[in-house]
Amino acid sequence: MSAYNRTGAQETVDKVRHVLRRPQDIVTNPGRAAGQPSFRSHGSETRFDGLPEYEILKIKRAVGEISGIASPFHRLHDGRAGATTSIGGRMLVNFSSYDYLGLNGHPDVGAAARRAIQHFGTSVSASRLSGGERQIHRDLDGTLARLHGTEDAVSFVSGHGTNVSVIGALLGPEDLIIGDAVVHNSIMEGARLSGARRIFCPHGDLEALERGLRLNRARHRRALVVVEGLYGMDGDVPNLAALIKLKRRYDAWLMVDEAHSIGVLGANGRGLAEEQDVDPTDVDIWMGTLSKSFAAMGGYIAGCRPLIEILRDTTPGFVFSVGLSPPVAAAALAAIDIMHQETWRLAKLRENGRTFLHSAKARGLDTGLSIGAAVVPIMIGNSPHAVILSERLLKRGFNIVPALFPGVAENQARLRFFLTTEHTSEQINNVLDAVADELPMLRSGPPIVSLVTKQ
Ligand SMILES: Cc1ncc(COP(=O)(O)O)c(C=O)c1O
Repeated sequence: MSAYNRTGAQETVDKVRHVLRRPQDIVTNPGRAAGQPSFRSHGSETRFDGLPEYEILKIKRAVGEISGIASPFHRLHDGRAGATTSIGGRMLVNFSSYDYLGLNGHPDVGAAARRAIQHFGTSVSASRLSGGERQIHRDLDGTLARLHGTEDAVSFVSGHGTNVSVIGALLGPEDLIIGDAVVHNSIMEGARLSGARRIFCPHGDLEALERGLRLNRARHRRALVVVEGLYGMDGDVPNLAALIKLKRRYDAWLMVDEAHSIGVLGANGRGLAEEQDVDPTDVDIWMGTLSKSFAAMGGYIAGCRPLIEILRDTTPGFVFSVGLSPPVAAAALAAIDIMHQETWRLAKLRENGRTFLHSAKARGLDTGLSIGAAVVPIMIGNSPHAVILSERLLKRGFNIVPALFPGVAENQARLRFFLTTEHTSEQINNVLDAVADELPMLRSGPPIVSLVTKQ
């Protein structure tokens, strides 16, 4: 019986409790009120297996074990995962890769990485500041600046680390950060680290953003407005011209995270500014990652020369962290070059995004706010349904990972589809047929009991 079937729900909860009630797992702390459990195990506060976090992990595993539904996360892929992938020796059509342009595994990208290893080795072993620069780093920074149409750029070893380190370094407790509520975790973490006053407005709500600036700007030294170029959760875009007006009116910096939009939006893959025909120098801070369209890893900031000089001199994630591994920098450089040469890749990616969006809508599926550019969610409505649907699709030959509470509100649980240049329209139509088959069956089944806390 399904764990999510209401009649079986109590049984499931009892089983989970039973799993957790093994005496070695939960002890009652005599210093606490009777009946109040302590998650301390084996009598030591320092044991990791006694931490509440570990208890939560065990609950998740127990629910999976009892329901017979495997976690959709950490699936083990046998090799390169692009538009197709092999999991456990079985070929699947894959909609969970950010290799938007299909360049991971491109022969020229691999050859560039191998040449860089031969010349520089696999590591530069120290920060660029103390260990010295390599030409490949400078070439990459220059290429990224030209791509964005800015004076300069600087690359870091991690996209996530770029946001944390740069926002954490540029802003402080006297400052104000106003962002969209669904920006990536790395932006949230950077904002938290900075100690600045943080206001995150409802997704896409420019009026709320304006109000936040109007009511709070004057009491703060610096202000940062931060958005994503193409939202990784919703697949929609912000209105750049409106944001530029706002940031000018309130004397704030505007930062755009182009993790999902560089190499995706714009006829030449230059991102949101090209897509919306806006002067890129009107945005103060362009951020991007090398891990998605550019088949590598790492992050970067592009902007005016003084900004980049400050970051090279002060950002902990640059000053105290190693320079990019040479084959990684070379792979990103080669990928950008191929994007410029093989312009059909961008056109095919856009065509696939549009096909997916229109075909999903034609089947009555809810694609939320997506504009149909590489990221298209299908809204499912609760986390258990999203997990079960992901598993059923896996059985039918498709790999799609859900976004669940607390990553999104419980009633906003969804399957996120990432399109690439390499997908065929047949693959797109087949997966949408499978979703359109399975979703009504799931919804018309016995009512589910959500085993996660409702928001
Ligand atoms: C919007 C956004 N910013 C930053 C990052 C972090 O990038 P990376 O995975 O390259 O560290 C991600 C990752 O998915 C992202 O979606």
